[in-house]
Amino acid sequence: MVKHLLSMQDLSPNEIEAILDEAAGLKEKIRKGELHELLQDKTLGMIFEKPSLRTRVTFETGMTQLGGHAIYLAPADIQLGERESVPDVARNLSRWVDVVMARLFKHDIIVELARHSSVPVINGLTDLHHPCQTLGDLLTIRERKGKLRGLKLAWVGDGNNVCNSLLLGCTLVSMNISVACPRGYEPPADIVKQARANAKKSGVKVELTTDPKQAVGGADVVYTDIFASMGREAEAERRIEIFLPTYQVNKDLIEHAKSDAIVLHCQPWRLGQEISDDVAYSPRCAAFDQAENRLHTAKSILTFFL
Ligand code: CP
Ligand code: NVA
Repeated sequence: MVKHLLSMQDLSPNEIEAILDEAAGLKEKIRKGELHELLQDKTLGMIFEKPSLRTRVTFETGMTQLGGHAIYLAPADIQLGERESVPDVARNLSRWVDVVMARLFKHDIIVELARHSSVPVINGLTDLHHPCQTLGDLLTIRERKGKLRGLKLAWVGDGNNVCNSLLLGCTLVSMNISVACPRGYEPPADIVKQARANAKKSGVKVELTTDPKQAVGGADVVYTDIFASMGREAEAERRIEIFLPTYQVNKDLIEHAKSDAIVLHCQPWRLGQEISDDVAYSPRCAAFDQAENRLHTAKSILTFFL
């Protein structure tokens, strides 16, 4: 059976730790200027239905640094499910490349792609999950806080793909998570149920609230993301009316967190909406560390799955 990374739930706590340890080791190699061509002659096929800066650049650069090669397939190249069926794209790509990374709209489509692929498929973001982001985030939190177990992460804003992957990822690594969303913008019930099952096993708490101050209370990490994700642009104006001013991560809100709390954002951000400028560019915001760590974790994910 080929192993795929479609959701954080595809990884065990030990596997997450191994990926983070490998990423930290690869980061150190870069710092020392040591070659680490672990994937010589391997090829990654990257399917993109949506735009990307971080995911594309980190996977492509990552493959170069690992001694392999990456192919960027733009929406117009593949026309997934239109020019040819999803299973046939999977069957063809499996004959040429060693691993596939895909950024798609519908999560069901990446599940279908993986089902027909004989090489590993990595989720580079769907409407439901963003596991590669969570792995970069966990590395960033571990670096800044020296541990993961027992910390509290507060999510403020839309219950979206990034939130879903954090719900699963945090509870797998024994972190508490509190999610504050406006009514109607909560994460899906089945993901919350899975996170609660993980939390029961790892002995942590999952809290859902509409009050950001409550979520942020005593938090070690405060996380936010854009109000209207890719594909939801038409709802942007309406969402601003609903989310502002309550769901903005700004100086007043982070007063409620621990005094040494860090702020995370996966980027791209809309300054003045979900996060204020002064917080985004303050020393406690680790968004550019997260972005850097996307590179190191992309490489450790690739080496883990290949
Ligand atoms: N955070 C993230 O996934 O960024 P991109 O959309 O630029 O890839
Ligand atoms: N939730 C955002 C994340 C972007 C990296 C989106 O899906 O657009």
